[in-house]
Amino acid sequence: MRLILLGPPGAGKGTQATFITQKFGIPQISTGDMLRTAVKAQTPLGLQAKKVMDAGGLVSDDLIIGLVRDRLQQGDCQPGYLFDGFPRTIPQADALKDAHIPLDYVVEMVVPEANIIERMSGRRVHPASGRSYHVIFNPPKVAGKDDITGEPLVQRADDLEETVRHRLAVYRDQTRPLVAYYSSWAQSGAPEAPVFRQISGLGSVDEIKLRVFEALQP
Ligand code: AP5
Ligand code: ZN
Repeated sequence: MRLILLGPPGAGKGTQATFITQKFGIPQISTGDMLRTAVKAQTPLGLQAKKVMDAGGLVSDDLIIGLVRDRLQQGDCQPGYLFDGFPRTIPQADALKDAHIPLDYVVEMVVPEANIIERMSGRRVHPASGRSYHVIFNPPKVAGKDDITGEPLVQRADDLEETVRHRLAVYRDQTRPLVAYYSSWAQSGAPEAPVFRQISGLGSVDEIKLRVFEALQP
């Protein structure tokens, strides 16, 4: 299984990625998680990315494409992979296409902007794994603690309301065009084209999980 989860910030990509990667035994390639790890480790990439991420902008295509290229060379991508938060621009999608990286599905999770702010303001994350929770909609078993490790949960630096509004505008301008990109590629019937499916990202986490699994069937 080789797929892209597409959708605005806060659509629930990371939340659903956990279920999909477990079911298919594939790694989650989240460029956001990879960048946050680099920021924490203060690598040169992390130092470069931090300012842009905190402001809700996009890290340069060259950096991201290099990051993904290196990640795909690690041995665990043989049974497949799930891209979360990548590609995010037309040049990133073109880089995947030009490198003939196989894709079976592109699934877009559709969530209206009005719902996104409340999801982001209640989000709490486990930094080491990238697992995310919501204080009301998807609470951890013990408040403030990760379900699996028991380690503390934190708020993301880019989840301030003003920053979220900027991230949504960036999504509209730079990432939303990928919907037309993948739907027209799918309609063209080209042999390498992935199946393109849209699902509503509104409802409970479990309801959406069923929708996603259904979308990943032939
Ligand atoms: P990234 O980490 O990719 O952030 P994002 O795309 O903005 O997505 P989020 O992680 O915010 O949302 P999500 O869809 O994963 O939602 P989640 O499941 O957590 O990127 C961060 C930054 O890195 C970017 O801004 C950019 O600077 C940089 N970057 C990353 N990739 C890049 C790239 N390719 N190119 C350039 N720059 C890049 O859920 C959100 C909340 O909602 C949680 O609290 C969750 O518990 C809750 N929730 C989930 N499902 C439901 C539900 N069904 N009902 C109610 N609440 C729910
Ligand atoms: Zn995410």
